[in-house]
Amino acid sequence: MPHVAILSASVRTGRKSHRVALYFKKFVEENKLATAEILDLHEYQFPLFNERLKYLANPIPAAVEFAGKIKSADGVVIVTPEYNGGYPASLKNVIDLLYEEWHRKPVAISTVSNGIFGGTQVITSLQFTLWKIRAWTVPAMFPVPNVPEAFNENGEANDKAAIDKRAALFINELLWCVEANQRMAGK
Ligand SMILES: Cc1cc2nc3c(=O)[nH]c(=O)nc-3n(C[C@H](O)[C@H](O)[C@H](O)COP(=O)(O)O)c2cc1C
Repeated sequence: MPHVAILSASVRTGRKSHRVALYFKKFVEENKLATAEILDLHEYQFPLFNERLKYLANPIPAAVEFAGKIKSADGVVIVTPEYNGGYPASLKNVIDLLYEEWHRKPVAISTVSNGIFGGTQVITSLQFTLWKIRAWTVPAMFPVPNVPEAFNENGEANDKAAIDKRAALFINELLWCVEANQRMAGK
């Protein structure tokens, strides 16, 4: 069974997009699509980037652990809020921190906002950055508008049937790329 890392990017006090990360973990596990774990940047509280991990003489253990989790994941779901039309600094911080770990990693992007557009303005800039670092961005969208109303604090969707239907398409696209990647690697 593939293993999916769900990167929850908001470190904001009172954040709401983390609800979507909780939802994905439950969705993937309940439907037995993959094993899943959340990599929560709010919990990690990484310092501001000062050099790539591989060049640091004494990296903090949490950064080494995080790198290992990205490396060993078969696919990654990034759940990111939209801040001023872009993705948050916390996310750029960990993209830049790693290098080989992102190479050919299937990455699906879920954007989240409390407005009506679901954070979709994030996609072009985030996709470009991930392309630059040679990740494989999956051609599927999962925008979440009005997040406070759409999901509760436990990651339960208000309209579960509709959200599950969209999540199935989104996660299946990720898992298709994961399988393609594994076949090329002879796994
Ligand atoms: C600094 C900042 C900038 C924001 N800019 C936008 C924006 O450009 N577009 C938008 O739809 N929502 C914007 N929001 C609202 C977020 O979409 C909202 O906080 C949402 O809950 C997702 O972020 P969170 O996980 O940090 O809560 C912004 C929020 C913050 C804190």
